[in-house]
Amino acid sequence: MNRNPLIPFALIMVMGIGLIFFLSVKGLGDMKEVAKEKEGGAKTEETAAAGPEDIYKKSCVACHGANYEGGVGPALKGVGDRLSVDQIKDVLVNGRGSMPAGLVPADQAEEMAKWLAELK
Ligand code: HEC
Repeated sequence: MNRNPLIPFALIMVMGIGLIFFLSVKGLGDMKEVAKEKEGGAKTEETAAAGPEDIYKKSCVACHGANYEGGVGPALKGVGDRLSVDQIKDVLVNGRGSMPAGLVPADQAEEMAKWLAELK
């Protein structure tokens, strides 16, 4: 047997190049998928920005509870009895204590504050 000792290396190299090729083709496919997801994501965000309730479900539930009963943050039921719409808006825009600022887009803060003030 007179096998060329380089053959195993050559085989590994060919396999390696094949793998690189495969991964880059797959990568392109994934990239398209990710791009599609992003488009879809942007759309859901647009619809989510449609109303205060959608914003609430997306950004506030975790701390204020699914039924506005409170949790990390205080209950938001009847917050309108404690704070004026302007004060609520101020909390939404600027945050307060451990309440993070900027969760509500500035152009929707007013609408959201009014909605919150009417929670019963
Ligand atoms: C990371 C947790 C967290 C998230 C998310 C969060 N909040 Fe808060 N929120 C708090 C905390 C904590 C307070 C109390 C702040 C304080 O002690 O001054 C608070 C206070 C408030 C208040 C004032 C309540 C009162 O009785 O004085 C309002 C209104 C409010 N949050 C609305 C929202 C809205 C609307 C969202 C979603 C856009 C939201 N919060 C998201 C934690 C959170």
